[in-house]
Amino acid sequence: METIRIKVENIVSQKTSDTEKLHSICKLLKYEVEHYDWVGFYILDKEANVLYLGPYSGKATDHTLIPVGKGVCGQVAQNKETMIVQDVSKIQNYIACSMEVQSEIVVPVFKNGEFIAEIDIDSHAYAPFGEKDKKLLEEIAQQISCLF
Ligand code: SME
Repeated sequence: METIRIKVENIVSQKTSDTEKLHSICKLLKYEVEHYDWVGFYILDKEANVLYLGPYSGKATDHTLIPVGKGVCGQVAQNKETMIVQDVSKIQNYIACSMEVQSEIVVPVFKNGEFIAEIDIDSHAYAPFGEKDKKLLEEIAQQISCLF
């Protein structure tokens, strides 16, 4: 987990665009952690009160715009706290992306104390997420806030 943070730091300091860096971080996380099957960013459009899909790694999704409050992503935009769903079939307010997805973790990204984006990770495994994932992803959220 520590090496992942170092790799993230290296990506952040590269001389590429912020979008490319965010995309590299998605690929890194998907590659490094076995139970991460889809990794992407949703970014807040404050005026429209929606999240739009940013860089991601994994299958293409139809959900390029998510209203604040809708689905797991929308709830995190509202509550501004990490949400772990160990079994997506058990919750009502959920937007299905693929039948293979069993669980999800969504972590808010803050810039100058304001919610600006989130890291969304889907897993094909049942209940794979724990404190380690939460801690790692919340630290990465801090490391990358300068990219928004
Ligand atoms: N499942 C999410 C929608 C985004 S996809 O996972 C890529 C949700 O319920 O908000």
